Amino acid sequence: MSTVRIEFPGTCFAAQELPERACLPLFLTVQNSPLLFGCRSGLCGTCLIEVDADTGAAEPPDADEREALELYAPENPRARLACQLVPLGAMRIRKLASA
Ligand code: FES
Repeated sequence: MSTVRIEFPGTCFAAQELPERACLPLFLTVQNSPLLFGCRSGLCGTCLIEVDADTGAAEPPDADEREALELYAPENPRARLACQLVPLGAMRIRKLASA
């Protein structure tokens, strides 16, 4: 099974090696990441993040996620909802406050 490296720059949290296509809410907790999760279904915006990664490091957002991102981070093309993100490669994640 392939793994992907998730880093949290600017925090004290160590990088995590997760299975490719991992469901982030199942692997990232308050003990091992700066991320918080609420609804886990793409609605509440609690898990809003900014992703720094190469093209193809994650599946693109689906229509529902794009709609939520228009509400929570309309000016940020790198914003994603961590609960909806499907990681395919290494990435750096920074927690954002929703607008
Ligand atoms: S946890 Fe609610 S949108 Fe991700």
